[in-house]
Amino acid sequence: MTTTTDLPQHSPELRAAARHIGRRRFLTVTGAAAALAFAVNVPAAGTASAAQFDARKITDNPFTLGVASGDPLPDSVLLWTRLAPAPYQPDSGLPAQRITVHWELAHDEGFTRIARRGAAIAYPEFNHTVHVEVAALEAGRVYYYRFRAGTWISETGRTRTAPARTAAASSLTLAAVSCQAYTDGHYTAYRHLAQDDVDVVFHLGDYLYEYAVNSVGGYRNYTDRTLPALFNRETTTLEDYRLRYALFKSDPDLRAAHAAHPFVVTWDDHETENNYADDLPENSVPPEEFLLRRAAAYRAYWENQPLRLPQRPTGPDMQLYRRLHWGRLAQFDVLDTRQYRSNQAYGDGSQIPGPEVDDPARTMTGATQERWLLDGWRDSAALWNVVPQQVTFAQRKFDLTEPSRVSMDAWDGYRASRRRVLDGAKAAGVENLMVLTGDVHVGYGFDIKDDFDAPDSATLGTEIVATSITSGRDGSDKPANWDTYMRANPHMRFYNGRRGYVTVALGRQLARADFKTVPYVTTTGAPLATAATFVTQVGAQGLTPA
Ligand SMILES: [Fe+2]
Repeated sequence: MTTTTDLPQHSPELRAAARHIGRRRFLTVTGAAAALAFAVNVPAAGTASAAQFDARKITDNPFTLGVASGDPLPDSVLLWTRLAPAPYQPDSGLPAQRITVHWELAHDEGFTRIARRGAAIAYPEFNHTVHVEVAALEAGRVYYYRFRAGTWISETGRTRTAPARTAAASSLTLAAVSCQAYTDGHYTAYRHLAQDDVDVVFHLGDYLYEYAVNSVGGYRNYTDRTLPALFNRETTTLEDYRLRYALFKSDPDLRAAHAAHPFVVTWDDHETENNYADDLPENSVPPEEFLLRRAAAYRAYWENQPLRLPQRPTGPDMQLYRRLHWGRLAQFDVLDTRQYRSNQAYGDGSQIPGPEVDDPARTMTGATQERWLLDGWRDSAALWNVVPQQVTFAQRKFDLTEPSRVSMDAWDGYRASRRRVLDGAKAAGVENLMVLTGDVHVGYGFDIKDDFDAPDSATLGTEIVATSITSGRDGSDKPANWDTYMRANPHMRFYNGRRGYVTVALGRQLARADFKTVPYVTTTGAPLATAATFVTQVGAQGLTPA
């Protein structure tokens, strides 16, 4: 265990914060957060002290990590890139100076009908990432975009704006993805997703894993390259996290998926550390020290994702939960179930639930986010109310014996919190509730029951759990516990243990979910198959095979 005064690899800003905290041993967690907020804040755009670097002096392609877009609004999209001529080096192969990057957005792939263009600054303080919020766009349109730095031009990305808020919007096809452990295999599912006809991709967490990556990339088992030793350790510092994003984002299949579709991202635990809860880490590290790591992880997350300015973190705090709309067809309440949650009950893991899981003082969302969610539902004019989030929402018993073990890290470990959310949905008159989930590295389809222990109780919505892109390696269609899970959970309509992603087509009469899988990821080139298709009708929730 390290102490707060022994953090040699942290950035100067974080080291300064650590010293500050170290001097004040009885500082509260809130105080530590405030100290960090001050210490890692970066000068506002235009006031950065770094000198300007002439982009024409960049001698190698700086667009090695691709392009991305995100959080489509009716009049705006967020465009992202990062300059990194040498992505596996701590300095990315660039001086600590700001660099001007030009961007353009067009109606056509040939960039003959330019809609908007401009220049942005890649700041060294943000690791030369670029976030451009392009405004005053037309609603419900496809756009193409690209960046230029000096003589280098990026690949072309494709994105779209959401329909106008008042538009009826007849349909929307989304994809849901999660859990992309680099060491567990190839991103073949992303290669297929890049070709798939979807409007937007929701990433439900575990975009990054903190664990060490060896020289052959784990089960990728490279024979044509040797990954640098700096990846062969768990990420704890800002530099570690930034480099790890570079590794993941250098994958051509992931880059293709980002270039093809706008992403709406939320995180789970591994972007920071396995199964952390608020300021409590997995292992016995003091909260104030863990908050330094959290600040580093959150900052690298924002830098490397197509996220807007309101999501930019302040120290260890980041406003990631947010609301998006697709006309009057769908409202998306994107949750963050990590940053504000109570500690896992009964020591985490799989446990028989006791009174703690029903303790109303415990929370999965924090009180503020919970109120925001329930208020948002009350004000919703959308046909579908979709909740992209992290951990399994429906009850999931692991055993046929009673009482059965359930996951303390999922909503089963926070039953009082789940009850408040479901009661809030009922009170708000939410009719077409759909929860989108990641985390568990398998695909599930659930009916969300008013009382999960009473199969005859009302079905309040559906939950679609997207399997992993790679985590868990090849997997199997029917894992060993398949029969047990299906019998122990009558509201579980589908269970598949392959890698892949889900598409959900939301329409005005029904929603259709396609669970798409690849038979292997530890070697490249797997074909895509549809393991199952389910529908749920507007006004009559519950999954039925199509
Ligand atoms: Fe995961």
